[in-house]
Amino acid sequence: MSKISMSPSTILNPVPVIMVSCAGKEPKKEGKGPNIITLAWAGTVNSEPPMVSCSVRKSRHSHGLICETQEFVINLVNEKLVKACDYCGVRSGAKEDKFEVLGLHAVETPNLSYAPSIEEAPVSIACKVRDVIELGSHDMFLAEVVGVTVDESLIDEKGKICLEKAGLVAYSHGEYYKLGDILGFFGYSVASKEALKRRMPAKSKGKGSSTKKKSTRK
Ligand SMILES: Cc1cc2nc3c(=O)[nH]c(=O)nc-3n(C[C@H](O)[C@H](O)[C@H](O)COP(=O)(O)O)c2cc1C
Repeated sequence: MSKISMSPSTILNPVPVIMVSCAGKEPKKEGKGPNIITLAWAGTVNSEPPMVSCSVRKSRHSHGLICETQEFVINLVNEKLVKACDYCGVRSGAKEDKFEVLGLHAVETPNLSYAPSIEEAPVSIACKVRDVIELGSHDMFLAEVVGVTVDESLIDEKGKICLEKAGLVAYSHGEYYKLGDILGFFGYSVASKEALKRRMPAKSKGKGSSTKKKSTRK
């Protein structure tokens, strides 16, 4: 494979795209009401306790709101929300009420005092800021997850969250993508035949490209 060397850039892709909701301590005051900012520079950074990072430019209206309350909510984006998500990434809450313009609903978030959740989001993740690291263009908010709310239609009879049914969206190199086919699962490269059959029935019927399966069919 011949490769071309290029200058350093934010080329790590795909990344999540999220709608972060926040509000000031006095949401009735001008400029302190509930707001939504779209972020792509975000991720999970620790398991115990569950922690996330969100990088926000100081110039964003949301930056001030998050600094004021030390709270925000990460709302996952599905196909239905993707246009609103894009809108929240190109318009500022300093000039308009994005909840109102988009017909979205700000609802109370369990375990938080100020930041609302987006009612229409399939999953909302309540976060409390633990540290802020100034990186350069962006300030990285390191936050602990203090609660999660999930659309009940995504929870099966055993209480498992079925995120594969949520129609989630990812972001890659300037474009939004709907997540597609399942290619495998954690550890599938070394999983037993039984586990593969249970977890990926379509592939184990021969639609997949596993070498083991190919050799059994021969
Ligand atoms: C797909 C996408 C991803 C974005 N990611 C970030 C990000 O990670 N950090 C950031 O500060 N702004 C990001 N933005 C820009 C902000 O969402 C945008 O400036 C927004 O209008 C700020 O809203 P606010 O002023 O109401 O806070 C992104 C925009 C889009 C469309």
